[in-house]
Amino acid sequence: MESMNEELPGHVPESPDRPAGIPASAVAKPPAPPAPKAAVARPAGPVVESAPDPPVNKMRRRIVWASIAGFLTTCFLMFLRFFLPRSITEPSSVFKVGVPSDYALGVDTKWQQQYRIWVDKTSDRVFVIYARCTHLGCTPDWRASENKFKCPCHGSGYDSEGINFEGPAPRPMDRAEVKLDAEGQIVVNIAKLFKAPKGERSEFDDEGSYIPL
Ligand code: FES
Repeated sequence: MESMNEELPGHVPESPDRPAGIPASAVAKPPAPPAPKAAVARPAGPVVESAPDPPVNKMRRRIVWASIAGFLTTCFLMFLRFFLPRSITEPSSVFKVGVPSDYALGVDTKWQQQYRIWVDKTSDRVFVIYARCTHLGCTPDWRASENKFKCPCHGSGYDSEGINFEGPAPRPMDRAEVKLDAEGQIVVNIAKLFKAPKGERSEFDDEGSYIPL
């Protein structure tokens, strides 16, 4: 019988992988090995080089980087400024303003911007008014034509010696300590102020609050 099957057309002989009696079509075929990847097709024709960066783009890049560097430098300097002791960068509270004969009678405003003071000279003394309104601290304006100081914030008025006479200011403006040094220069110390309540002179006649002439 076996020899007869072997002779029939279409008969597949038995193999070690296929047991006897199981048709060859029922045996699972082993997976096919992966096909080799096809080579990436390149477009035909000459190879195109990437175009060089135009000068305009380079310039824009430089400007952007320069802006970033400038911004970071500014931040760094502000950071340093915040942590540095202020005594290094702020002006001293003691300074010289010349000799008494440099001043005419009346109010001299030339140091207002630099030191926030006015030098005031009368017939018998020189003193220095600290230019700060005693209401809320604004800097009053000297009005020579009206012979008075006028505060721009709430309208307080002071006479030519800094004595308040109108508005909400509660008392006269303070006076800074003044001394003469060995050369006769007026040395002002705005860290030491002389004060007086409303209607009184109290500390304005203390030693150091004025230079007698
Ligand atoms: S701060 Fe000068 S009047 Fe108010």
